[in-house]
Parts: sequence; C-alpha cells; structure tokens
Amino acid sequence: MMERLDKILCSQGTLTRSEGGRLVRGGRVTVDGVVCRDPAKKLDPEKQAITLDGRALGYARHVYLMLNKPVGILCVSRDPKVRTVVDLLPEEYRRRGLFPAGRLDKDTHGLVLITDDGDFAHNLLSPRHHVPKRYCARLDKPLSDAAAQAFRAGPTLEDGTKCLPAQVTVLEEGEEPLVEVVIYEGKFHQIKRMFAAVGSHVIWLKRYAMGGLELDESLPEGACRPLTESEKECILPKK
Ligand code: URA
Repeated sequence: MMERLDKILCSQGTLTRSEGGRLVRGGRVTVDGVVCRDPAKKLDPEKQAITLDGRALGYARHVYLMLNKPVGILCVSRDPKVRTVVDLLPEEYRRRGLFPAGRLDKDTHGLVLITDDGDFAHNLLSPRHHVPKRYCARLDKPLSDAAAQAFRAGPTLEDGTKCLPAQVTVLEEGEEPLVEVVIYEGKFHQIKRMFAAVGSHVIWLKRYAMGGLELDESLPEGACRPLTESEKECILPKK
C-alpha cells in the first residue's frame, strides 16, 4: 500500500509526523538507496527500502503485543481515572492508536493482546469464529457434576442468555477448587456469570490462552512484548 514517507516514519511509533518530516527535509532518510527530501513522497514501505541515519527502518504495518495484565488495570485504551493496559506499554508504543483485542475485567489477570489491527481483532473476537479462550478460575465451592454437565451442554445465564458449550476440568479438588475453563465466545463477564448460573462464585480468574497463543509465563505481570513470528502465525489469519 502506498503511503506518505512522513506518515510511514511516524507509524513506527517513536516520531510525530512533523518530526518525521523534519528528518526527511534534513536529508537523513533514504528510499531505495537515494536521499529523499520530500516528506509527501508516496511509497510502499513493504516493497521499498527506507533508512534513517543509515539504519534500515524495521517497518511493520501493525503491532501485536502480548501483555500479562495485572489485577487493578482497566482493559481499555484510555480512562480519565484508572490506569489502563495501554498506560502500561513502553513509551515507544504509545502513539499508535493501540487497543486491547478483547477485554478482561479489572479484577482478572493474564493474557491480553494489544494491537492496532482492527480486522485482526474483529476476527479474533467475532463469535462466528469460535476462537477458544482458556482460563483458570478459583471457585468458592466444589463444582457439582450437574454444573459441569450444564457447562458441556451450553449453560444458560441468570438473565436467560444461552452460551455455547464450554469445557470445564477440575485441576485441583477441595473446598475452593481450581478449574480450567475453555469458552468459544466472549460475553460480558462470561465466566463469572456462567459459574453464578450454577451457584458458584469466582474468587480468582486468569486467562492463559486465546486460540493457539499461550501466555508466556516468563513475562512478569504488567510487562508486554511483541509476538514472535511463530506466535503471529498461530493467531493471525493465513494470508
Ligand atoms: N469472563 C469473566 O467473567 N471475566 C473476564 O475478565 C473474562 C471472562
């Protein structure tokens, strides 16, 4: 796709458009080996080689970050009062219009994907695509066989909303069991409401996976990193 040179420079995160324009006019940018002083020049950043101060611009059309969300952070782009997942990102990512692809509650932690690719987020979240999302939950009481059966059949929430069948596996028995739940859609407070519908309360909730993408457990809470190429392959639609 053809884009203006100053727009391409600022799309990579660290520069504003006018800073990019200044660098171009100052002769610090080359396109296919030739100095280009016109910030409005249109080119295809995926096909043409751009350098800034002699170094190749590692152009990426979109950003895909994995974040290990802590409790207490809002899963939106911006909020006037509460810290958001985007507030946790390093400075170089702040300007790109990033947003979380799918929400976690303020008191839920774990895997959040942050991107600026609206089509990707739409595909990931669309109920039509049935992308599995895997969670672990700590419950306030043992799970009955009838409740597990209701999950497998597709539970009905207290307000009458019918959910798709979900998988539930007990990982740790006891008075406050730990269970793994896999759901294929993303209704508001879905896991908490599914357990409420069978008489259980969720004490603690963490998301571990979306589609084939697993949370990197070496990522400290509150930290993020770009997806690796193989992670992108397992979650992005095939070209
Ligand atoms: N279901 C919930 O109830 N909360 C979340 O944050 C995610 C899924």
